[in-house]
Amino acid sequence: MQIGATKVEKYKILIVEDDTVFANATKTRLLEMGYLVSDTVTSAEDAIRSVRDDPPDLVLMDIVLNGEMDGIDAASQIRQISNIPVIYVTGYVNDEFLLRAKLTTPLGYVCKPFDTEALKAVIEVALYRHSMEMVLREAADENVRLEAQNQQLQKTESLGRMAGAIAHHFNNHLQTVMGNLEMAMDDLSRGECPADILNEAMRATCKAAEISGLMLTYLGQTFGKHELMDISEACRKSLPLLQATASKDIVFMTDFPSCGGPAIRANAGQIQQVLTNLITNACEAASENKGAIALTVKTVSGADILDLKRFPINWQPKEIAHTCLEVKDEGHGIPNGDIGKIFDPFFTTKSNGRGLGLPVALGIVGTYGGGITVESKPGRGSVFRVFLPVSTEVVPCQPDLPANQGVLQAGEAEKRSKIERGGATVLLVEDEEQVRNMVRIMLTRLGYMVLEAKDGVEAGEIFQRHQDDIRCVLSDLTMPRMDGWDLLAALRNISSDIPVILSSGYDESRVMIGEHPERPNAFIGKPYRLKALGETIRNVLSQHDDQREVPVLMC
Ligand SMILES: Nc1ncnc2c1ncn2[C@@H]1O[C@H](COP(=O)(O)OP(=O)(O)OP(=O)(O)O)[C@@H](O)[C@H]1O
Ligand SMILES: [Mg+2]
Repeated sequence: MQIGATKVEKYKILIVEDDTVFANATKTRLLEMGYLVSDTVTSAEDAIRSVRDDPPDLVLMDIVLNGEMDGIDAASQIRQISNIPVIYVTGYVNDEFLLRAKLTTPLGYVCKPFDTEALKAVIEVALYRHSMEMVLREAADENVRLEAQNQQLQKTESLGRMAGAIAHHFNNHLQTVMGNLEMAMDDLSRGECPADILNEAMRATCKAAEISGLMLTYLGQTFGKHELMDISEACRKSLPLLQATASKDIVFMTDFPSCGGPAIRANAGQIQQVLTNLITNACEAASENKGAIALTVKTVSGADILDLKRFPINWQPKEIAHTCLEVKDEGHGIPNGDIGKIFDPFFTTKSNGRGLGLPVALGIVGTYGGGITVESKPGRGSVFRVFLPVSTEVVPCQPDLPANQGVLQAGEAEKRSKIERGGATVLLVEDEEQVRNMVRIMLTRLGYMVLEAKDGVEAGEIFQRHQDDIRCVLSDLTMPRMDGWDLLAALRNISSDIPVILSSGYDESRVMIGEHPERPNAFIGKPYRLKALGETIRNVLSQHDDQREVPVLMC
């Protein structure tokens, strides 16, 4: 079909008319005008069938038809089959008909009796309008396609930027590790002690591990333990330390509601991290390290949160109460063109910045269904507002922890010291050979005897043979043949209370999601240090011994 086509005979018209004399007369007139007639039918059912068999370009539809369905029912079913324009032809229309007819969005009406010119005008206008609608629809579809393509492109670009930045940071840290290890080997070959150099290498690995951890937080893959908390209380507790690290010339002003206010359910450590990242940025923005930083906590309705400079950009706050934590500074502000980028990982304008403070804060806030807004004027300061949905529960005012909390009771300390001596056998399951060798050495240094397996299947076989000796299993989670979860289930089948520690490079909260018939006694995230490994095994063994209440043999 063409817009404004001069050869009208290109168009095929279906006539739906129960008066056969009138139908034949209409057909003659259409043929005289140069159109084709695809079919002439007398009922709605036949009209629908004809549209399916030989789709016309237009339907001339009588409204009142014989049979169960009338012309309006037929038109609405034809609309569902295909987007064919319909013109109603009728001698009688009441308001109810008109209302129903309108809902089927016809492209025209002709009243019987009609003359040839009037019919031709209605048909031509309908065909023209229909072809224009098709052109507009195609343009809209093309727009949607281009928009999706553009979003995909932006996503790929931003992923590329992020991967490049991660590689950049890791290569820098690896350079430090590699260089220092090489020098340490050199020192050793000359009989010198490389302790300082090795410490440098260790510091660099810690920094790399910190970046991985922050990336997981940014991706919303670290949840930690959730608890009901009052954000004002959290601010009051964190503020002294933050003030101590800030310049003495920065004045902090606070406006928090008294305790017992609206609560949120979140991980306290993560909320503290959000606060720390925002206050650190505010302090860093303060000109010549002077100025005031105002911290406010209040409650606002989701409907009142401005739809301006809101992050994540597609965040739609629920229409419930939100706790709003506001950090306002009088610093150098943010250029308008940068505001859209400041939450991108690794975007920084600071010579020593990593560009992870805000993305991490947003990653955390996002996991709780919240968002952050930014207002800033260059030279006049910035206001960051963190919004978190309020829980319906109320936090009771908590007294300070007793001073002796965390101190081991005498009997407990004695029991621990026995376990600390090691001596027990640990089954180590790890598919990466290098990691397995290293963890074996760590375990040996901690005083444990080690049995090794490279996957779950091998571990199961070793466990069957040595179950009387093995006191604890330390297993990687992602392994070929049989992963850590399947191994855990298999081991507990053999020995229902064998202590199992699972380990992974992913965050614990992500790993523990999902239905698993058995839970491990502990989780240890990679990379881990000797001290953390020792503590984890000791805790698991001591809990296991507590549960068993093994009588102590007095010699
Ligand atoms: N309060 C603020 N005033 C002015 N600029 C800010 C403020 N907060 C953030 N910015 C801008 O946003 C950028 C990103 O902040 P972000 O906290 O993510 O990274 P960073 O502070 O540069 O590095 P780091 O990883 O050490 O936090 C900053 O480099 C700075 O340009
Ligand atoms: Mg920062």
